[in-house]
Amino acid sequence: MYLKGTRMATSSIAIERTHSSRLAGVDMTNLPFGTVFSDHMVVADYAEGRWGPATVRPYAPLALPPSISALQYGLSVFEGLKAHRDAEGRVLLFRAPENAARLNRSAARLAMPEVPESLFLDSLRTLLDIDRDWVPPATAGALYIRPCLFAVDESLRVKPGERFAFLIATCPVGAYFTGATDVLVSETFVRAFPGGTGDIKAAGNYAAAFIADADAKAQGFSTVLWLDGLERRFVEECGVMNVFFVFADRIVTPALSGTILAGVTRHSVLTLLREMGHQVEERRVAIEEVCAAHDRGELREVFGTGTAATVSPVGRIRYRGCDLVLPPLEQRQVGPAVRERLVGIMTGLLPDPYGWVERL
Ligand SMILES: Cc1ncc(COP(=O)(O)O)c(C=O)c1O
Repeated sequence: MYLKGTRMATSSIAIERTHSSRLAGVDMTNLPFGTVFSDHMVVADYAEGRWGPATVRPYAPLALPPSISALQYGLSVFEGLKAHRDAEGRVLLFRAPENAARLNRSAARLAMPEVPESLFLDSLRTLLDIDRDWVPPATAGALYIRPCLFAVDESLRVKPGERFAFLIATCPVGAYFTGATDVLVSETFVRAFPGGTGDIKAAGNYAAAFIADADAKAQGFSTVLWLDGLERRFVEECGVMNVFFVFADRIVTPALSGTILAGVTRHSVLTLLREMGHQVEERRVAIEEVCAAHDRGELREVFGTGTAATVSPVGRIRYRGCDLVLPPLEQRQVGPAVRERLVGIMTGLLPDPYGWVERL
């Protein structure tokens, strides 16, 4: 693995507090997604083969040269996770070590240095401690956490980066209740292909997908149901979510084939569905199988899973001009039940038998 085993110069975290908190101006009962940022952020720099100490400092624009390879060559990877506030007011962080590990898998694929787990987790805990008042009340939403790692080399040479920045910013976000979303099977675009970067959170994956999303929206759909890049037959993901199909007698989600992001929510939902006694298969799912199950009246539910929406029901799938209409939300059982269980664990309402939640 490229640049593995890098060290932090020191584990101490420097803190520079803001003198003018913006919190009072924020309406925690009416939060948009991803545009309101909390007072502080984490910044750490990597140069000459080692990480410098992390700093928690006021959230502010960065001064960077125009030539940085994050801008020029897309050397940038990121993560997304959430912290909730429980009924007693404590901050609960959900499965953060999984995100630290996935960031490093993303980094390795783009020949970037690993971020030591202690740098990721300790700086995040410090940030959450300082900005704890930014975590919305239990019923209002959550604090969305955005770590990212990108190359800051001041050079236009086309080569792996040598200097990097690691940042963590956070956004209070509202509770995410969606109705059913309608999705369009994209036959024009693919998001991933074997040997590519579909299984990591490379910034460029998202850039390449926006046109398909725009195309879907222009036709009245919320997002895209992605098929595999080789045969254009097998369902991979639903927008920026993993996808689950509830057939009459089993639940199926596409196996992690190397072109699908290993969602933390996907893994959590798989674990909970099995605990709830469902038979769940991880395997390839051909779009023809989905159409055939629909035609036989056996396609009970389709839902996406991801940090932002947790579990999000699909209402209609359009494939080759035909609409697969799913049963109304009132008739859904599996998706709502697993969502309730998962959100209960995340927010401290239910016991956490898997040790997923860290109380800060
Ligand atoms: C492409 C893609 N698939 C799936 C997911 C769901 O992953 P997670 O459950 O870790 O949020 C995300 C979001 O991170 C994503 O961007």
